[in-house]
Amino acid sequence: MSEELLGQLDRLEAEGREAIRRADTPDDREEVRVRFLGRKGRLTGVLRQLGTISPELRPVVGARANEVKEALSELIDAASAKADYAGAEEPIDLSLPGRRPWQGGRHPVTLVVEEICEIFRELGFVRAAGPEAETTWYNFTALNIPLDHPAADMHDTFFLGKDVVLRTHTSPVQARVMETHEPPIRVVVPGMVYRRDPFDASHAPGFEQIEGLAVDEGITFVDFKATIRAFVERFFGPDTKTRFRPSYFPFTEPSAEVDVGCQICGGHGCSACKGTGWMEIMGAGMVHPAVFENVGYDSDRYTGFAFGMGPARIAMLRYRIPDIRLLYESDVRFLEQFA
Ligand code: DAH
Repeated sequence: MSEELLGQLDRLEAEGREAIRRADTPDDREEVRVRFLGRKGRLTGVLRQLGTISPELRPVVGARANEVKEALSELIDAASAKADYAGAEEPIDLSLPGRRPWQGGRHPVTLVVEEICEIFRELGFVRAAGPEAETTWYNFTALNIPLDHPAADMHDTFFLGKDVVLRTHTSPVQARVMETHEPPIRVVVPGMVYRRDPFDASHAPGFEQIEGLAVDEGITFVDFKATIRAFVERFFGPDTKTRFRPSYFPFTEPSAEVDVGCQICGGHGCSACKGTGWMEIMGAGMVHPAVFENVGYDSDRYTGFAFGMGPARIAMLRYRIPDIRLLYESDVRFLEQFA
């Protein structure tokens, strides 16, 4: 009896193949599919008789039925595809070049971070890193920022717990590096920092900073100025003007903000520099003795300088990007311009 069913399947397959060969139109092919493979078609007819054979043989016939079904559906699909191709209004141009896979590129901020770290590497600085979830001790207290001081408020901190924050700047890594290393120290620290600022054209709740720190015996303000000047010349070009403006940070004394001649108007004054001809690129200064004492350094013996800059802002100056949000939206149409 099972032989009988297998024979039926062989005939069904042979006749199906022949019918597909003769089916010229989509309608014909659909008719063949229904007649052979449809719910009330011939294959179903064979399967209905499975009950009449012994249970051990049913899997054999069932497997063969599946094979026939797949063979015939594939043939029908192939015949349709072939007809579509031949029937296309314009023949396919096989000489057209293939589509290239999309190639990723490096993010503009990454490009700036790499370039800045490379310049400082040439000046003798190595890279260091620290945690993004930071204790209030390292983020504030060790840096001479009392927790009840307005400077701590100013940072609009994300608290993760009573004494744990998302770091609001990369400066805490200064303290971590000094705690674990003896001078001489020369490090740069690129990394993400976080502040409770809503997104607008010039603010983002998370952004990059690069911290710098040099500590040794006998480091002076002159070393600080010369190092920053050397950096500006390499990064912005040898003709770029540099200006050190007095400022205040709790962890440096004296403190300065460093400006460079406006990269957009060349110093004449434009909307980008608000008419001043200058653009601020970093906060900096001589490390405050209290910071040295907090990490266990002898503040009579050692001096140093530190600086912190925002590579996203610097990327905006360099590439004339008008809105910081473009840097954090991951829109490929924007990003691929930098690849
Ligand atoms: N940490 C400061 C900020 O986030 C930037 C800064 C200023 C870093 C002066 C420094 C420094 O190392 O000396 O705004």
